[in-house]
Amino acid sequence: MENFEYHTPTRLIFGKGIIDRLPEVMRPIGKKVLLAYGGGSIKRLGLYDKVKELLKDFEIHELGGIEPNPKYNPSVLDGQRICKEKRIDVILSVGGGSVLDCCKAIAAAARYEGDPWDLISYKVKAEDALPIVDVMTLAATGSEYDCGGVISRTETNDKIGYVDPLLYPVCSLLDPAYTETVNAKHTAAGVADAINHAMEQFFVNPSNSVADGFCETLIKTLMKFGPVALDHPDDYKARAEIMLACTFGCNGLLNLGAGMSGWPMHGIEHALSAYYGITHGEGLAIITPRWMRHILNDRTLERFVKFGVDIYGISAELPPYEIAEQTIDKTYDFFRNTMRMPMTLREVGIDKSRLKEIAAHIATNEGLDNPSIFAPLTEKDIYEILE
Ligand code: NZQ
Ligand code: ZN
Repeated sequence: MENFEYHTPTRLIFGKGIIDRLPEVMRPIGKKVLLAYGGGSIKRLGLYDKVKELLKDFEIHELGGIEPNPKYNPSVLDGQRICKEKRIDVILSVGGGSVLDCCKAIAAAARYEGDPWDLISYKVKAEDALPIVDVMTLAATGSEYDCGGVISRTETNDKIGYVDPLLYPVCSLLDPAYTETVNAKHTAAGVADAINHAMEQFFVNPSNSVADGFCETLIKTLMKFGPVALDHPDDYKARAEIMLACTFGCNGLLNLGAGMSGWPMHGIEHALSAYYGITHGEGLAIITPRWMRHILNDRTLERFVKFGVDIYGISAELPPYEIAEQTIDKTYDFFRNTMRMPMTLREVGIDKSRLKEIAAHIATNEGLDNPSIFAPLTEKDIYEILE
């Protein structure tokens, strides 16, 4: 087992009606609040009015219109400007992972004198960041319990995971009832994203039983309750199971003492989102079975067998390569037929014209050829997976 250090300082408050605790959470942190949200779903939910009512004694400034796949320009730059002009004490993110990710970049930018891209691109290490509180309305990313945010810069086709321990939210308020209005497309994408987070951390070497167990529990929970939420969007139990599972996706718990995967499917997907603006979880669902097939070989076989036997209940008596092939087919089938997701790039509006350029971009920026990761990928491998 590998040595590790694990520390997640975020306070989680989970359950129906916990929004009422917002003033109690915010009061010790600060009075001047940047309220950040997306394209309007929180207004339709009644959450915007609720938050304003709960925080009527606070000084609220707003940043609305944060995009899915949040943008450096205008959202991060606007947020930085407002925080400085209004001398904001605390950022309150109300929405999905995109809003929270944007808030993380703003939190660091607010305490930086230069161009925030210096921080996001790791040219400069942030020395400080504003505190963040979030109210999640979509279960997917795990951003509520990790210290990363993913920011897109349109003009350079970059989508960068910006990670810094300064960016853990102080507190995340998680009421599954708010996710009941998430439509089928984003419900499926969220489930696919969280399953993929566990898969990125399961396909590693060395592995250990504890980390395997965490990954498998999450995947089984998401595969059981994802379809329930699709068919019964207001099933609170299903939404709660999904939300709890998603929360642990990216904060290191699933990978304790285990080896590095390099998050290859995320590296590839982020480039597709950067070039074409597709939904993250849909891109991952498309890539997952293709990546699996591409990396299957004698060295990786054991992980496929364990995954197939434990997750899908495939008989351990079958020849190992047969188990692996069935595992890949069942993964495709789950996304396509159970979660009813698009499973080709064509279906999400991507043709073959730029795949070579995208593969080169990923090979240059994602470090997926690092020999210490589970299944290193060259530019040619990446192109073949995309093809
Ligand atoms: O913008 P609004 O109007 O709020 O609508 C959103 C958006 O259109 C809508 N939505 C959110 N809550 C809703 C709702 N609609 C109805 N009812 C509700 N309760 O859903 C749409 C998608 O929202 P978004 O925030 O973009 O989705 P998600 O939470 O999946 O976030 C995706 C972003 O997170 C990044 C992805 O790359 C992508 O940019 N990731 C962040 C990670 C992290 N910080 O750790 C890890 C992930 O791997 C991922 O890369
Ligand atoms: Zn993801």
